[in-house]
Amino acid sequence: MAAFNRIEEIWHAPVTVQDFENAETKTSFNSEISFENVSFQYKNAEYKALQNIDLVIPKGKIIALVGSSGSGKTTLTDMVLRFMDPTEGRILFDGTEIKNIKVGSLRSLITLVSQEPTLFNDSIRNNISFSSSIYTDEQIKQAAEAANAWEFIQASENQLDTNIGDRGMKLSGGQRQRLTIARAILKNPPILILDEATSALDSESEKLVQEALHRLMIGRTTIVIAHRLATIQHANIICVMKNGMIIEKGTHESLIKLEGEYAKFVSMQGLQ
Ligand SMILES: Nc1ncnc2c1ncn2[C@@H]1O[C@H](COP(=O)(O)OP(=O)(O)O)[C@@H](O)[C@H]1O
Ligand SMILES: [Mg+2]
Repeated sequence: MAAFNRIEEIWHAPVTVQDFENAETKTSFNSEISFENVSFQYKNAEYKALQNIDLVIPKGKIIALVGSSGSGKTTLTDMVLRFMDPTEGRILFDGTEIKNIKVGSLRSLITLVSQEPTLFNDSIRNNISFSSSIYTDEQIKQAAEAANAWEFIQASENQLDTNIGDRGMKLSGGQRQRLTIARAILKNPPILILDEATSALDSESEKLVQEALHRLMIGRTTIVIAHRLATIQHANIICVMKNGMIIEKGTHESLIKLEGEYAKFVSMQGLQ
């Protein structure tokens, strides 16, 4: 598990955040993550990528972020993972400012599934278990089944011992994504961040991945960035982002009634 988190951090972290001397270790997620008037500006950027974000993410809920490219969706989720600290405002995790939580322990509670899965030139088993020997083959198999990955694993030459090639190049995009989901199911984190996890896939493999993601989301808190209405409309809270701000926030129904940007987005997709 420790190795898993370390690799995840190294892989994603652009960054310079450091643990404060008295930072506490978090081992569970109990109530909510909240953004209080958070703004963020990348170094050398002319504009703020996030402006005055106020948002409460309650445990067990699905929060969807929608908005055009560059509106700040990924930046917002990166701040939950503490890849960088706010320029203004603060982010609280169960009431504790995340700056005061050990960053490794914070990230061990969160799994990020993004467009480009992080896979290694190694066996399917090691890719799912992150080379940890604490899992049995039966546990790995169950996770793969829940992730709609077992069928192709079983059909491959050496099953769990099959090498997937550099960054998983021997697999299709959907298969790579499903291995990542199997890994997440095994890791069993309370919080998920799905950043356009299905947008690079064709519709057949999108269906399998979507199904696996739905299973993964059960019983967790999810922040989902998606373009497809089918994914978004069941969220408990939908945030519409524009120029780094949340310009609309509510349920699908309430935002349709508002007849603003979200309603326009929905009518463009032709679904209601
Ligand atoms: N590493 C970075 N350095 C400088 N600017 C960045 C960086 N990442 C994103 N940005 C800028 O921040 C804004 C928000 O980007 P992002 O959060 O990626 O938006 P989205 O995920 O909604 O497409 C954009 O203007 C983008 O160009
Ligand atoms: Mg993005």
